[in-house]
Amino acid sequence: MTGSPSGGPLPRRMVFLGPPGVGKGTQAAGLARELGLAHLSTGDLLRAAVAEGSELGRAADGHMRAGRLVPDDLVVAILKERLGRSDAAAGYILDGFPRTLIQAETLGRFASLDAVISLELDPGALVARLTGRRLCPTCGAVYNLLTQPPREAGRCDQEGAALVQRPDDRPDAVEVRLKVYAEQTAPLLEFYRRLGLLRRLDASGTPAEVAARLRQLLRPPSARTRRPTD
Ligand code: AP5
Ligand code: MG
Repeated sequence: MTGSPSGGPLPRRMVFLGPPGVGKGTQAAGLARELGLAHLSTGDLLRAAVAEGSELGRAADGHMRAGRLVPDDLVVAILKERLGRSDAAAGYILDGFPRTLIQAETLGRFASLDAVISLELDPGALVARLTGRRLCPTCGAVYNLLTQPPREAGRCDQEGAALVQRPDDRPDAVEVRLKVYAEQTAPLLEFYRRLGLLRRLDASGTPAEVAARLRQLLRPPSARTRRPTD
């Protein structure tokens, strides 16, 4: 951990845990930029492998399209390789990893975490965020038809490219992903609570509101702003 403006240590090795569409990627990207951390999303790494057509990508593609988890051994291998690169030495945010108890236990054997941030939102709002999401196929920028639309309908603000939908953001795959989260990933909340690492974040409201709450949550308890109701 390193110093925060208030003098306390800020976590630099973090996991962002939360259901599909809660805003892990959005918040992790902004925080990683600000703190100089590597943003490691296993979903992004797997989508890149699918786009390349590598052996891993071919093995992962069907699972991802259906909304199911990719087998633990494949995901652990790709994450371990990525964590070993130099940009992760100064710290990292793991976005979407671990997602099973086996992944969490394996991670514990090769990395030591400062904090696990649990992003929380009601299921109706999750579905709206997922079905409205659109991506730029060229630069990867993420939009939302409802909450963060591009300036020109259907086109990336930077690239002008036609925006696309992730195959697993279609309603049938979304349903599977939410169920898989509840069954296989939600148990990690208790796992990390017992280790004393869990910090819970209300992920409702605008991205800027969530970002402000997240920065409060990262400060040591003594440095967090107290409201009259706290
Ligand atoms: P992954 O890519 O990790 O998907 P996910 O966990 O389902 O999460 P998302 O990326 O869909 O959502 P997010 O929380 O990042 O939200 P975002 O910020 O984009 O994984 C995909 C697949 O890969 C898995 O299903 C699995 O097959 C495989 N996989 C990956 N990791 C694996 C692992 N460890 N083990 C096994 N398999 C694995 O935001 C969503 C939308 O909402 C966007 O449009 C955004 O603009 C908008 N938005 C964000 N914040 C707000 C806000 N505050 N208000 C309004 N809109 C908002
Ligand atoms: Mg994401």
